[in-house]
Amino acid sequence: MVEKVRKAVFPAAGLGTRFLPATKAQPKEMLALVDKPLIQYGVEEAIHSGVHNIIIVTGRGKSAIEDHFDVSFELEHLLETRKKKDLLETVRSVSDMIDVAYVRQKEALGLGHAVLRARELVANEPFSVILSDDVIDAETPCLRQLLDVYEFYHAPVLALMEVPRENISAYGVVDAEPVGHNGGRDRLYRIRNLVEKPKTEDAPSNLAIIGRYILTPEIFHSLEAIQPGSGGEIQLTDGLKHMLRSRPIYGYKFEGKRYDAGDKLGFLQATVEFALKRHDLGEAFRDYLKHLAL
Ligand code: UTP
Repeated sequence: MVEKVRKAVFPAAGLGTRFLPATKAQPKEMLALVDKPLIQYGVEEAIHSGVHNIIIVTGRGKSAIEDHFDVSFELEHLLETRKKKDLLETVRSVSDMIDVAYVRQKEALGLGHAVLRARELVANEPFSVILSDDVIDAETPCLRQLLDVYEFYHAPVLALMEVPRENISAYGVVDAEPVGHNGGRDRLYRIRNLVEKPKTEDAPSNLAIIGRYILTPEIFHSLEAIQPGSGGEIQLTDGLKHMLRSRPIYGYKFEGKRYDAGDKLGFLQATVEFALKRHDLGEAFRDYLKHLAL
């Protein structure tokens, strides 16, 4: 079996109901933070982590994602004749960036079901999953942090984050014990159990699973074996719980700031903070914000 993680699966076939009506005719993964669609942030994270083989699971609005990563001859020609060199480079860098394979999830039957759709393209190798509505700003890309753990243990690794108890029911939650790693015991965990969207009083901890995973191909067998769970969907968390019976799974509390860009407030927070960090916009935007009578 190939040991190196070469592939990243991007499930992008959800209904995005929290963001209606913007998501009526386009996937939420195409919503732009400042000027870049969410999915491009995720793809760049994969590339900066050394993972170049991109698989996107699409649903409705599939063409918007495909067009985004494809060459746009008309646009390039127009920018060329108008001598817009910088913009031309920006546009070209997107299509030059990656080779993408697409697979369709015809019905939004859950995240686990979406991952299962990528089975043939992933084949018998370890792979990563990125949910691009979880945008993570980190010095070392979050996926790279997980890969470092994977390369040590050769076992599945999930991104973890502490969340306030009152919000825990929105997440997959783990019961986990700390494991010594890199001279510390505060980031790596061995998973004992997982539960999708527990009631606050039933949550086994305040450690939530965030949208970055390193998985091994056994997950496909587990996803096929389970029944629909929370919300009537095939849940990835339930698949992981099934896989836990036969092999260890680790969780890693990553370094970095995560924004839930699939949620309106999270999206606005990410927009403001990313805009403030931009060389070309930050100063003017900061001045503008200072003068708002808040
Ligand atoms: P979310 O839980 O954020 O679901 O999915 P959603 O359905 O898109 O959004 P809301 O809650 O209705 O607003 C997490 C990720 O899994 C993908 C989504 O596209 C998103 O990237 N997903 C979810 C699928 O690809 N297929 C599904 O059936 C469900």
